[in-house]
Amino acid sequence: MAAPPPTEELPVREAEKKSSTEQEINPWDVQAGQDEQGNTLQFDYVAISQKWATKLIDEVLLQRFERLTGKKPHRWLRRGLFFSHRDFDKILDRYEAGEPFFLYTGRGPSSDALHLGHTIPFTFTKWLQDVFDVPLVIMLTDDEKALFRDGLTFEDTHKFGLHNAKDIIACGFDMKKTFIFSDLEFVSGHFLYNVWEFSKLLPFNQVRGAFGFDGSTNIGRIMFPAVQCAASFATSYPQLWPNYDPKADRSKAIAKIPVLIPMAIDQDPYFRLVRDNSHRMRFPSPKPALIHSKFLTALQGAGGKMSASDPNSAIFMTDTPNQIKNKINKHAFSGGRETLEEHQRLGGIPEVDVAFQYLSYFEDDDAKLLEIETSYRKGTLMTGELKKMAIAMLQEYVKEFQERRKGVTDEVLKGYMTPRELVWKGNPNPVKKEKKSKETKEVKGGEKGVKGDANPTEEKKVES
Ligand code: TYM
Repeated sequence: MAAPPPTEELPVREAEKKSSTEQEINPWDVQAGQDEQGNTLQFDYVAISQKWATKLIDEVLLQRFERLTGKKPHRWLRRGLFFSHRDFDKILDRYEAGEPFFLYTGRGPSSDALHLGHTIPFTFTKWLQDVFDVPLVIMLTDDEKALFRDGLTFEDTHKFGLHNAKDIIACGFDMKKTFIFSDLEFVSGHFLYNVWEFSKLLPFNQVRGAFGFDGSTNIGRIMFPAVQCAASFATSYPQLWPNYDPKADRSKAIAKIPVLIPMAIDQDPYFRLVRDNSHRMRFPSPKPALIHSKFLTALQGAGGKMSASDPNSAIFMTDTPNQIKNKINKHAFSGGRETLEEHQRLGGIPEVDVAFQYLSYFEDDDAKLLEIETSYRKGTLMTGELKKMAIAMLQEYVKEFQERRKGVTDEVLKGYMTPRELVWKGNPNPVKKEKKSKETKEVKGGEKGVKGDANPTEEKKVES
């Protein structure tokens, strides 16, 4: 937020003046704003939603989600941690009608291990996959990370990507419905055609505006957005859809299958490019739908984002129970007061308390969380007790993850990373429409038809 200019009544002496800074959010740089005194502010998510013209997720949308799926919205939706979207309502329309769509998310492998923050979009995507019963692609941008980090080679990031993929699998994805790929290995054939076709639609001005590139930026970085963007097209993966025939071009049949992309808000600039240009592809695709999360706070609190490059800012999924305990006790910013007497008199401040923030991610019971919040605010619950609860909760989350991770062998990894026909069912009870939309006819009645498209009745017809 820009600070107001100094007024006549409150002159700011030149020597004391520190200019405030606005928050900066883009895929490679996430910084909170600062006030005039140089204090770091909290991220302002309403401001970023307004600036980028996304829609805030509201009660009406969540109620519709619950009505259609029969599932209570995930606690991260209920609590506004996934707070914003683009066209999520259109994805619900498709789900309601039993029309196909798919999920896409990704990871830029800049280090060996994931931190807790990285698991948020994956854990949420796994939940969406379970609820909607749809195919999912997960992109490992090992090309991106070597291009953007001077110290990393393509060999390094490729290796990190394979490690990260094992961690991602440990978030619980169903192999039958999930394809994970490394850009360095997989971007070829139809995918590569889409990358080049899409790059041809993007004037440098548009990309420079979205990402802040300049004349000294290496051209790999300038080209890379076309790769992350092209992963939004169903036509990049003809192998994943039923009845694949390597000799046939199925682009026309599958181009209209839209995608829903879960991510933290920093990744939005890529997909604005796709939304602006997807209709201009040779086989036009619908605008991708997006659902955005906030950033899991760094241990240091306000305005920080958990980051793999600062080990003290983050809980890693490889941390031991003791490391988790020490990190929270030593580094987690507290909203408690200086003395016991003050804390009891004034109460704690949950909004800035990192242990409380973490509890709000992982405690599923709304009533219990409210009780914790109320007693902390009243000053009857102490910082130490709050931290103890957060420690126990995170130790459990990380332990369960580590147990699943033990089962992810090289063989299992290979299974997820082999391009193959995915198997899913979609909405078991779609609302029958009087007349099928033109789009559905094209997808289903295309060259070979796309089965498994969430309409079992229709599917049987195709098969018989
Ligand atoms: P990467 O590796 O920076 O981050 C992976 C995912 O984690 C999100 N994220 C966080 N979420 C909550 N709290 C945090 N502190 C936090 N830090 C990171 C990111 O937004 C992302 O969703 N270029 C991408 C990889 C990618 C991708 C995608 C991501 C390719 N295609 C499609 C999302 C959707 C990257 O480097 O992500």
